[in-house]
Formats: sequence, structure tokens, C-alpha cells
Amino acid sequence: MVTYKIPVIAGDGIGPEVIAEGKKVLEAVAEVDGFNIEWIDYPHGAEHYLATGELISEDTLKELKKYKAIYLGALGDPRVEPGILELGILLKIRFYMDEYVNLRPVKLYEGVPTPLKDKKPSDIQFFVIRENTEDFYIGLGGNVKKGKTRHNLELVRELYNVRFGLDIESGADEIAYQLGVISKQGARRVIEYAFEFAKKHNKSKVTSVDKANVLTHVYSLWRRTVEEVAKNYPNIKYEFAFVDATAMWFVKNPEWYEVVVTPNLFGDILTDLGAMIQGGLGFAPGGNINPKGTSMFEPIHGSAPKYKGLNKANPIATILAGCLLLEDIGLERSALKVERAVEEVLREGKVKTYDFGGNSKTSEVGDAIAKKVKEL
Ligand code: NAD
Ligand code: IPM
Ligand code: MN
Repeated sequence: MVTYKIPVIAGDGIGPEVIAEGKKVLEAVAEVDGFNIEWIDYPHGAEHYLATGELISEDTLKELKKYKAIYLGALGDPRVEPGILELGILLKIRFYMDEYVNLRPVKLYEGVPTPLKDKKPSDIQFFVIRENTEDFYIGLGGNVKKGKTRHNLELVRELYNVRFGLDIESGADEIAYQLGVISKQGARRVIEYAFEFAKKHNKSKVTSVDKANVLTHVYSLWRRTVEEVAKNYPNIKYEFAFVDATAMWFVKNPEWYEVVVTPNLFGDILTDLGAMIQGGLGFAPGGNINPKGTSMFEPIHGSAPKYKGLNKANPIATILAGCLLLEDIGLERSALKVERAVEEVLREGKVKTYDFGGNSKTSEVGDAIAKKVKEL
């Protein structure tokens, strides 16, 4: 029997609870489809950080890089200053593994209530492909104040003098800046992925989302790259849209969308909105993908600290992230089986966590889906 070794970082908050259900369901499909999974558990997250001061070491990253796919719960804990764990572990892995595609399906399943009036499952099924290594996420920036000005960037001077009419040497109030960077190569690879994805899934249109009307430098490069790449896909239509309008259209006309490709920050924001129209964060999975390297699969929600340890959180996003993981390691048939089991359980509507109108426990939803996997 083939054994698949899968590293797991359950992480913080509800992470361990939803990951436990994800593991349960993947183990069920392994059993019926005749393969083994060996989980390799990693302790990284708030507890580990508070106890040891370590976020994630170079050695661990190297070790993780040997595997095809990582399964992740969530990171973030109120005891730790915002950003430390998120940047130090989650973004660290995304960047280290160069997971430049963040694939986030938006799909409303039958039996799941959407807040959108008159929209049904066939209206809400598209894919957001979020660039995952550039834009405002590169961490280039700083804070400037009197006596602490080690920033020789002309830009900082210009900000002070031109924009705020302040003299940088005189020590005015603190300012902060953060730069968004798009590279041609970085844009091209994810845009190509989006067009290839559209082709593979028989989609007819790719929508590129940006803010090229204001952030003209970065997003005009993005647009030119879309135009160049699109030339190689004459059978796929493409359109440009601004992010603010897209937020509005996601709510009004989600049926328009097939494949949406977007720079990093807008993709982050739009996919929480996407999650909401598919029933909530508890239903939205994501894959951080390096097509030739190590990928990482996770629910797109965070650690939801207020639900930690209550066995209340919805594990379906994590279970669906497990489907994406199975697909990534070449187990498409098993991935489909898990998705069918999720669909069945949702359609039957007997187990529901609080977020979609029930009071089942996290573990009861996982049990029901695992059982269904074995019945299919
Ligand atoms: P969040 O996604 O953790 O939770 C927001 C709200 O969404 C919750 O309070 C809850 O009402 C609902 N929710 C989320 N997941 C749910 C689930 N599985 N079932 C039912 N309801 C669910 O976002 P937040 O509160 O802004 O962030 C909490 C922490 O998580 C922060 O530290 C943040 O930085 C971090 N975060 C981590 C990730 C990640 O690890 N990938 C993603 C987003 C946020
Ligand atoms: C997500 C999260 C992360 C992001 C944070 C926690 C770094 O919001 O996965 O959507 O911004 O990408
Ligand atoms: Mn997010």
C-alpha cells in the first residue's frame, strides 16, 4: 500500500479542532481507497512560540520542503502581538516555498444558506486566483521619526517634504510607509496559471482585478502582463475590473465570474467576501500552490480565538482544503469522493454547526462526513 507523508501544522485557536476533522475525513478516504497517510505533526504556533521563542526555523523549513503538500489549520493568538505568528510562520512558509498561487474556490453548496437574496448554488461557483508572493506583502517599508531616520530612501524625504510639507531633519511626527511591488515575472507566472487553469476547467473567461486607475505604477504592469499572456489563449475571453467595483459585483452578480486573477492584497480581501457569499468562512478552503514544489492547504479563515476549544467551529473549509491537497498529490478520485461526501451531508442537512443554523459540534460534522465517505 502506498503511504503519503503529510506534514501538519494545526496552529492556533480553532486550528487544532478543525484539523482533527480534516485528518479524520482524509483517513476515512485513505481507508476506502486503499492508501495510507502518515501525518507528521509540527507544534508551530502560539504555544510553541511562547514556550521557546521560536517561530519556525530554517531547519524546519528545509525539512518541510521535502514534502509535496502541507496541511495547515490557522495561526494567530491574542496573547501574541498581531503579525508575529502570521508573518513569522504562515507567510514565512508561503514565501520560503515560493507558493505563488493562492487558489481559493468560491462555491455555494446546496443546503448552505447564502446571505444573497435569490442566489442559488449554480450562481455562486468561481475561482479566485490570488498572487501570493508580491504586492504589499513583501514587507518593504518602515517607520520614520526624528533621530531614528536610517532611511535614506529619497521617497521618504519626498513624502515628508512634498506631501506633508515637513522637513525630515527637523523631526516631525512619525510617518510609516509600506511599498507594494509587482514584478513582471511574478505577475506573469500567476496570470499564466490562471489562464491555464481556465483552459483545464473549460472556463470561457478570466477577470483580472486591480486598481490601475490609482495605483498606476504597479497595476499597469499587472495589466500589460495580463494582455500579453492572454494573447496565448485566444479561446479565453478576458476582462479588467477595479477592485472596488468587483466587491460590489461579487454581491450583486456572482454568476458573472468564472476565474478571477488578482494581486495579493485585493485577493485577500475579496476572498473573505467570496467566503461570505458561499455561506461563511467555515466553507472556504484555499491552496497555497507552488506547481513544482511544496504547496500548503488551509481553510482561508483564521484562528477565530473566541471559539477556541469549544468544539463549535465549522470544519468544512478545512475538509475541503483536504480535497485540494488530495488533488495536488495526484489523488483526484479520492478528492472527488470527499467533496461528494461533503455535498451529501450538506444536502441532508442533519448536522450543522452554529454558523449555518445548527448546533452540531465540530467533531459531529467531521464524523458525519467521514462516515459518508465510507458509504459512497
Ligand atoms: P477569523 O477568520 O479567525 O475569524 C473571523 C470570524 O469568522 C470568527 O470570529 C467567526 O465568527 C468566523 N469564523 C471563522 N472561521 C470559522 C469557522 N471555521 N467556523 C465558524 N465560524 C468561523 O478572523 P480574525 O478574527 O480576523 O482573526 C483571528 C486571528 O487569525 C488573527 O490572529 C488573524 O491574524 C489570524 N488569521 C490567520 C489566518 C491563517 O492562519 N491563514 C487567516 C486569517 C486570519
Ligand atoms: C489569509 C490571511 C493571511 C493573509 C494573514 C493571516 C497573513 O488573512 O490567509 O487570507 O493575509 O494572507
Ligand atoms: Mn485573509
